[in-house]
Amino acid sequence: MKDNLFMKVLNDAAEKKIAVGAINTFDYLTSDSAVNAAKELGVNLIIQTSAATVEHFGAKKLYDIVDAARRDAGITVALHLDHCRKTELGKLCVDTGWDAVMMDFSKLPLAENIAKTREVADYAHAKGVAIEGEVGVIFGTEDDVVAAQEQRAGYDETIEFIQGSGVDAIAPAIGTAHGVYKGVPTLDYDLVERLGKEPTPIVIHGGTGLSAEQFKRLISLGGRKINISTLVKNTYLDTIKALVQSGEKYAPIPFNQKVQDAVTAAIKSHLAVFSGLAEDFE
Ligand code: 13P
Repeated sequence: MKDNLFMKVLNDAAEKKIAVGAINTFDYLTSDSAVNAAKELGVNLIIQTSAATVEHFGAKKLYDIVDAARRDAGITVALHLDHCRKTELGKLCVDTGWDAVMMDFSKLPLAENIAKTREVADYAHAKGVAIEGEVGVIFGTEDDVVAAQEQRAGYDETIEFIQGSGVDAIAPAIGTAHGVYKGVPTLDYDLVERLGKEPTPIVIHGGTGLSAEQFKRLISLGGRKINISTLVKNTYLDTIKALVQSGEKYAPIPFNQKVQDAVTAAIKSHLAVFSGLAEDFE
């Protein structure tokens, strides 16, 4: 898969022993905020969209929205599809120009997860597009993808999945969760360490709410892509709510600018830690 942007940013992260931030966006403002945050730091970026966001805009329109934000950015920005449980939607994104797609059949028995992921992997690879898969089940809700129960998969099962499915990046269930954490999660650093010795890059889901220390430890063991979604959504909504309640002049452009500044700052503080440019969130 020569010249694939998703593999390019992951390989670069592996070489530098850092992680690339994979930021979930859902419109032009949040995509532009993520690009600006990465640009200000001079780091690569993955923008990822949920399957629900693709269905909301339509694949071509969403591609154009994100592409308008990343074009001419002067940094490498890969476009990725997050948690997709629909084979046809995954293939549509492959055909529309996404650099990578994540197929999530993790709730199915291992053999079915492998077979269904493999089908899209073969389709994507034939078109130069990369694929991420999940083994074990990561707890929580990501847009309309709900997992009410976490399931851990061991090292052997994870390796069997990687080899059988042909994925280019692996999302193991290590105790992280989508959404807001209640308490401090117990993470399976041993599994990350063992998988980190394998060539397939490790993806850390459920990034919102982990501490800088947890991120740095995961990265030191081989975490190469870190997903952040809830932080973006909550910063966006909380800032709008505060503005509406503030009594400031009720005008969309200044409101947009303030939302964009807040979202950019939140993303930037995380990208700085992922790329080793800061020890803690500012
Ligand atoms: P958070 O919503 O917890 O940041 O998780 C994001 C994620 O893993 C997207 O797949």
